[in-house]
Amino acid sequence: MTTLVTGATGSVGRHLVAQLVQAGQPVRALTRRPAAADLPAGAEVVGGDLLAPDTLPAALRGVARMFLFAVPETAQTVVDHAVRAGVRRIVVLSSSAVDDSVADDAVGSFGHAHHRPVERAVERAGVAWTHLRAGEFMLNTLDWAPELRAEGVVRGVNGHFPSAPIHEADVASVAAAALLGDGHAGAKYFLTGPALITPVEQVRTIGAALGRALQFVELTPDQARDLWRRRGMPSEVIEHLLWSPPAPPADGGYAALVRVSPTVAEVTGRPARSYAEWVADHVADFR
Ligand SMILES: NC(=O)c1ccc[n+]([C@@H]2O[C@H](COP(=O)([O-])OP(=O)(O)OC[C@H]3O[C@@H](n4cnc5c(N)ncnc54)[C@H](OP(=O)(O)O)[C@@H]3O)[C@@H](O)[C@H]2O)c1
Repeated sequence: MTTLVTGATGSVGRHLVAQLVQAGQPVRALTRRPAAADLPAGAEVVGGDLLAPDTLPAALRGVARMFLFAVPETAQTVVDHAVRAGVRRIVVLSSSAVDDSVADDAVGSFGHAHHRPVERAVERAGVAWTHLRAGEFMLNTLDWAPELRAEGVVRGVNGHFPSAPIHEADVASVAAAALLGDGHAGAKYFLTGPALITPVEQVRTIGAALGRALQFVELTPDQARDLWRRRGMPSEVIEHLLWSPPAPPADGGYAALVRVSPTVAEVTGRPARSYAEWVADHVADFR
């Protein structure tokens, strides 16, 4: 039974392809640029563009299961093609930004508006579906690498507010379990890493791996706005990043505000990878 992995050259898709190949599964990997894919030899690399669904029928031939990277503009047509080709199971790379309280005819946040149409198309397809509603990726902190390499600091805001970021390989591990195993149909999995960690602690963890004293420098909102504008960041992204965390409740502090999900361990049978493990996997990027 062949599995088609879309987004196969992406941070999650690349791990998923490798994990499926390692599990001895027939894997087809979709990319817009097959010559540059650089995927494991055991995967069949095929060309195709999710924004141009007419390019997909050959990639879908003989496919029973699909991992779907979110391209909302064409999701409905892509799913229609998949169902016609015989796909019976679809696992969606979605986001914790999806909010089930937002009505179907309302837009919602950027993340909701990007992912929910894809989830909806899959839910209506009459296939077994699983949504991976992933929270923040640990991988986002790769954005710090140029500043850390050059100056040993990261400048930002909310350095003491924690999150529970997830290793991209764990998103892939849950995807592999949902694609290959039973009991995941109809699940909307909220996925996080194993523990809360603040940006200040993340920078310290990178420093420990490098043997360098690195520092998170807290900016005022005006300083941050000014810096990010000069770096060419779009204003809506800047305002999104400049959110003010609520005051920590007296009982439990910030830990009471941020959820750590047990789903990675429950679904895969292994603890979710820690931020220190993620840093060990990416330490060369920070040197
Ligand atoms: N970063 C976060 O904190 C976070 C949190 C929750 C959810 N998410 C969601 O996770 C997803 C990102 O996953 P990722 O990091 O694995 O992705 P990624 O590293 O950005 O890679 C996505 C891959 O998708 C492929 N792709 C893009 N457009 C395509 C198209 N039109 N047709 C075919 N392939 C296309 C590209 O491959 P080719 O160039 O080879 O075609 C690319 O390598 C997004 O939907 C994001 O919203 C992210």
